[in-house]
Amino acid sequence: MKEKLMYVCSNCGYESPKWFGKCPICSEWNTAIEKKSVIEELKSNPVEFKEINEIKLNGFKRLRTNISEFDRLIGGGIVPGSVILVGGDPGVGKSTLMLEISRNLSKVGEVFYITGEESEEQILIRANRIGMKENENLKVTSSSDLKSIFQALKSEKPIAVIIDSIQSMRLSNIGLPGSVVQLRDCAEALVDYSKSTGVPVFIVGHITKTGQIAGPKLLEHLVDVVLYFEGEVQTGYRILRTVKNRFGPSNEIAIFEMRNNGLQEVKNPSEIFIERGSLSSGSCITSAIEGTRTIFLEIQSLISKTFFPSPRRLSKGIEIGRVILISAVLSRRLNLPLESFDIYVNVVGGLNVKDPSIDLGIAVAIYSSFADVELDSDCVYIGEIGLDGKMRKVSNIEKRLMEAHKMGFKRVVMPHDRNVKNFKDLELLQYNSLLEVLKNID
Ligand code: TYD
Ligand code: MG
Repeated sequence: MKEKLMYVCSNCGYESPKWFGKCPICSEWNTAIEKKSVIEELKSNPVEFKEINEIKLNGFKRLRTNISEFDRLIGGGIVPGSVILVGGDPGVGKSTLMLEISRNLSKVGEVFYITGEESEEQILIRANRIGMKENENLKVTSSSDLKSIFQALKSEKPIAVIIDSIQSMRLSNIGLPGSVVQLRDCAEALVDYSKSTGVPVFIVGHITKTGQIAGPKLLEHLVDVVLYFEGEVQTGYRILRTVKNRFGPSNEIAIFEMRNNGLQEVKNPSEIFIERGSLSSGSCITSAIEGTRTIFLEIQSLISKTFFPSPRRLSKGIEIGRVILISAVLSRRLNLPLESFDIYVNVVGGLNVKDPSIDLGIAVAIYSSFADVELDSDCVYIGEIGLDGKMRKVSNIEKRLMEAHKMGFKRVVMPHDRNVKNFKDLELLQYNSLLEVLKNID
């Protein structure tokens, strides 16, 4: 073994063989700490290769939480020895979800809930709020010292361990809790614990508004499953999304409603984000497929004369690049003088939509606000738009149409598609270009 002295920045994790007063990466002063980095010599024991058909699955059985939306989201239950990261803004409901999962899992074994942020009393208050009965299988501690936590867990056989949150945990004496080094060290130690014992570990991580670097993003590659909680804290709906899943589909969503007594699953989310009835000008109904769910959404847009040298484009729930692109298509291909207007676009309900099939909805909403026309609330606009202003086919059109039919919509405006079958009581209005669509409005 050869030992080499290394210095590490306790704020950002920068490593250097030379001592530094000011970190060249994050510009913090006096953050250099000695770190003994051990370079192992080539191991004398060679690894062993197996034929793939010699490998055995040792009793691989998923653990169900019996929160059916959660189980579905992560691919049918929790895999033993897996580490699940649950990220989200403060106040979105991470601790509530963790407590509900703990309650359910504690029916089959002991759950250890470690909170570094709250007192044990606060956990009890939350437990009362979600109507938890007396529960001898749920063990709670308020601690942020990961070493003593591991020490205590040594003699236990948990069915699951919850760490709420990773930003409040401390392992080594390098850096404060929440610093990059602590975050990484704690997460690595938890992954190691989980892999060596087979105990699933949930790690809660806040998305930090200011210090993006010390957020859950940093840990994504270390863990098996990454879930993000989305939704506006003020509104009731919360969307849990799989961003990564080594054992199941990713980009799947599950929707919950935050009630007075905890999170309630929403099993049929198609219609929760829209209100049926008349629409104001600037609003348009569209549909998106997120994971396996088809959801109807209201896109709102507001166009107002700009007071700025370059007009503003702001969006919520849609990537701003798409709004800029669609505004450019409307300006160039349809000659709308949008360069002298600010454009605001919003997806009602707090969902972040990735599906490009809402392009047409965005374009039509912008046009509706610009021309001050009210759109038909029984009509759904579906389609991707190209830079040439042409409509492009979207994936799973049959599924979208079936859902629209089921929800009682009367019309769907969509790109030409020879293969779609007709539905009774659902008129399919098929167009080649955005220009044709807008000509047929009003
Ligand atoms: P919490 O789970 O503490 O959020 P996080 O751990 O992500 O910071 O809960 C967030 C909010 O939810 C909090 O403002 C209170 C509210 N809440 C309810 O509305 N109903 C409930 O049953 C509970 C437990 C919390
Ligand atoms: Mg919390």
